[in-house]
Parts: sequence; structure tokens; C-alpha cells
Amino acid sequence: MAARPVTVSQVADIKPGELAAVDVEGTRITIANANGRFYAFDDTCTHEQCSLADGILDGTIVTCACHGAQFDVTNGTVVAPPAPTPVRTYSLHVRDGQVVIEV
Ligand code: FES
Repeated sequence: MAARPVTVSQVADIKPGELAAVDVEGTRITIANANGRFYAFDDTCTHEQCSLADGILDGTIVTCACHGAQFDVTNGTVVAPPAPTPVRTYSLHVRDGQVVIEV
């Protein structure tokens, strides 16, 4: 199925260094504002399913609040264990002050 754009937030609502979880048709996705650049990835940590939006964003690295796994928000790769697999990322762009992702 072709990807289609979904508006998930206002740019102004997610400040630099912040994370926000959004629900897109039953899938929880985290939006990260990494120093002014926005990224989108699955909110569910691949270790034991904690919400990554509850974690800490430092630059482009998010640290899960539960057991400290780290992911690169730009591509979803695992930077530090115990997460066993990457998180899915989503194409994102900013248009007219809105954050739009492709799902
Ligand atoms: S649930 Fe994220 S590190 Fe364990």
C-alpha cells in the first residue's frame, strides 16, 4: 500500500529536545525534535515494550526510561543494549508549521 501523509502535530508543540507520542490509526509513534530537526519512529521499545516518548532525548539519541536501551532517532538503529532490534522509522516533513509523517 502506498504511503500517505498524516499530520501528527504542530511544530510549535514539540520543542527542541522534546519527545511526543502520537497515535496514528492504532500505532503509537514518537516524534522527536532533535535540535530543530524532526524524526518519527515507533514508540514501542523493542526490549520490553516501554514507551520511548517517556525516555530522554540527547541530540539524536533516545534513551529508554525502563532499562536504558538507546536508539538513533534518525534511522532507528540500536546504539546501546538491551534492545535486540531497531525501531521502525517513518518519513517526516514539516509543512506550514505542521509535522507530517508518511504512513
Ligand atoms: S523496555 Fe526499553 S530498555 Fe527495556
